[in-house]
Amino acid sequence: MRLDRYLCELNLGTRSQVKKEIKAGLVSVNEVTMRSPEEQIRPAADHVCYKGQPCVYEEYVYYLLHKPAGVVSATRDRKERTVLDLIGDGTHRDLFPVGRLDKDTEGLLLITNDGALAHDLLSPGRHVEKEYECHLARPFDAGQQQLLEQGMEIGEKRPLAPAVVHILEEKKILLTITEGKFHQVKRMLQAAGNEVVYLKRIRMGSIVLDETLPKGAFRRLTKEELERLQHDRSGHL
Ligand code: URA
Repeated sequence: MRLDRYLCELNLGTRSQVKKEIKAGLVSVNEVTMRSPEEQIRPAADHVCYKGQPCVYEEYVYYLLHKPAGVVSATRDRKERTVLDLIGDGTHRDLFPVGRLDKDTEGLLLITNDGALAHDLLSPGRHVEKEYECHLARPFDAGQQQLLEQGMEIGEKRPLAPAVVHILEEKKILLTITEGKFHQVKRMLQAAGNEVVYLKRIRMGSIVLDETLPKGAFRRLTKEELERLQHDRSGHL
């Protein structure tokens, strides 16, 4: 693989940025300073350093995306813009969203290529919490709260697990669920006699939506977030 491409794939910069850095003598391969971006390297065998620090290819990557409305939670789609179209990672072609948010739902979506972690986080038996901010068409009342909190029937094989509700305003609640049925939150509120008019996921397990990320923006999970997620996956939250 070309040296400049390899560095791009490690997210060290754009192609033109890394070319400049190579020409400036900031990159060495097997302890020899390189000046040519076209140099061929063997990613698995060569020891590449950038500014004296070893560059290590990461097999697994973890992104936190602030999903905007209007994009679908799929990897590729012929007609619609997908959440992966928003992620500018040219290296890892095997990325996918951890679960789905509806096209009109906004908020936290994890994107990774770590299938085992995603499987655990989505596994019903692990009870990983998902917290949503729900704006409602009608005032939320005690009867609706009781229905959501007692574990309701929405046409699934079994009643849902009890949800946790925090009332924020007359028509705005926070709802925490541990399952991930199709359109679950919307169906729950509908079955309770209300209607979701806006939905935003603000937390999954211990990972909270980074409100400093504008809609459509993404960032890598920090080391601490990833550690917490590894803990969440075991279902002990
Ligand atoms: N529940 C829904 O109804 N929609 C979502 O996008 C997520 C949870």
